[in-house]
Amino acid sequence: MPAVEIKPGIWWVGVNVRSHDLFEGLWPIPDGVSLNSYVVKGEKVAIIDLVREWSGSSSSLLHQLETAGLAPSDIDYIITNHLEPDHSEFLGNFRRLAPRAELLATPKGVELARVLCGVTENVRAVQDGEQLDLGGGKSLVFAHVPFVHWPDTMVTYEPGSQVLFSCDAFGGFGALKGILFDDQILPEDQEFYYREMLRYYANIVANFAKPVQRAIDKLKDTSISMIAPSHGLIWRGDPGEVVKRYVKFAGYSGGKCEKAITLLWSSMYGNTKIVTDAIMRGVARENVHMDVFEVPLADHSYILASVFKNKGVIVGAPTYEVKMFPPMAQVLNSIQRKRMTGRNAFHYGSYGWSGGALQEFESFAQELKWEMSEPLEFRGAPTAEDLLKAEDLAAAFARNIRDAT
Ligand SMILES: Cc1cc2nc3c(=O)[nH]c(=O)nc-3n(C[C@H](O)[C@H](O)[C@H](O)COP(=O)(O)O)c2cc1C
Ligand SMILES: [Fe+2]
Ligand SMILES: [Fe+2]
Repeated sequence: MPAVEIKPGIWWVGVNVRSHDLFEGLWPIPDGVSLNSYVVKGEKVAIIDLVREWSGSSSSLLHQLETAGLAPSDIDYIITNHLEPDHSEFLGNFRRLAPRAELLATPKGVELARVLCGVTENVRAVQDGEQLDLGGGKSLVFAHVPFVHWPDTMVTYEPGSQVLFSCDAFGGFGALKGILFDDQILPEDQEFYYREMLRYYANIVANFAKPVQRAIDKLKDTSISMIAPSHGLIWRGDPGEVVKRYVKFAGYSGGKCEKAITLLWSSMYGNTKIVTDAIMRGVARENVHMDVFEVPLADHSYILASVFKNKGVIVGAPTYEVKMFPPMAQVLNSIQRKRMTGRNAFHYGSYGWSGGALQEFESFAQELKWEMSEPLEFRGAPTAEDLLKAEDLAAAFARNIRDAT
């Protein structure tokens, strides 16, 4: 997709990366990701955020500039809202092509430009609230929003057109499939974009709910006609709607979640698996929505997105060497690292002689302030009685989620 003029004098010059690499070396992106750069053209020209040198993306960015009628040497300012390499890896080489461009970042960003990109010349730290006049009716205002997602993060606002360049905030996974704006999504594609936005939040931003909320509060009196994030769609149809979604996401972190359940299960030899069927019957009886993941087959990225959203978490895992089955313990560790607190939880699993999975789950639940309902540990193969009990306990758990106020 060539450069798109998103407002008079403002272009999207972003790059769609369709790579099977993991994002951050960690998160699958089967549908790719977009790295959104923007150009604001007054008498002076600014580029906001660059790209990673990834799967041809730096050449693509140069091509995008060309389609906007610009050469790198025309650039007067490089604005880096955030120095994570997905937006800055190209910085060192880009500076060679745009030698007179001044680099503007937060004071922390200036430090990171040095340590990550080796860029120290012609660099200036901008203050919170500082305004840069580009001439020709365009200017840029910088607002520091530390830890959305790194300590260096700022957002940039163009007051004349009321565009907010929001960096990682309001972004999502998924390369742009021929459209750029939220109001161009077909109803049947909405689910894809919103799901990938939630997964992005759960994987990348989840630990920063408080800074996200602070940033939203800080910008609440700013008139915004368009939100232009550094990944994913540009929000112009109803920018307020995506802000509302983010406020909701920030609430998920601490347990203000949807009345739905994530079921995570694993089994070495099939005993816990048999009970898993009964657990599903119990939940289904109560008509509560449930996402089901088999561990270790499912990727943590998708599990995290589901646990992040849902109030109820059911974890079925057998005992292994007096502890929990290791792949499930690893999933719990991922959840713990993202500090997803305040869930309701139910644990079940088979053991052979000592048990141990439940104890490990209890200390995990305590750490994250998860409220546990009566668990079900059973010895060896489940009896008919175990199966009935599993179904009833799961149904009671689901009712509790459904009817919570
Ligand atoms: C490698 C391995 C280690 C185990 N360690 C323990 C243990 O320390 N304590 C215990 O009570 N059972 C232990 N067990 C027994 C299992 O928990 C038991 O067989 C259980 O029924 C397995 O459930 P599953 O069929 O759902 O995998 C172990 C089993 C295996 C294969
Ligand atoms: Fe980032
Ligand atoms: Fe990013």
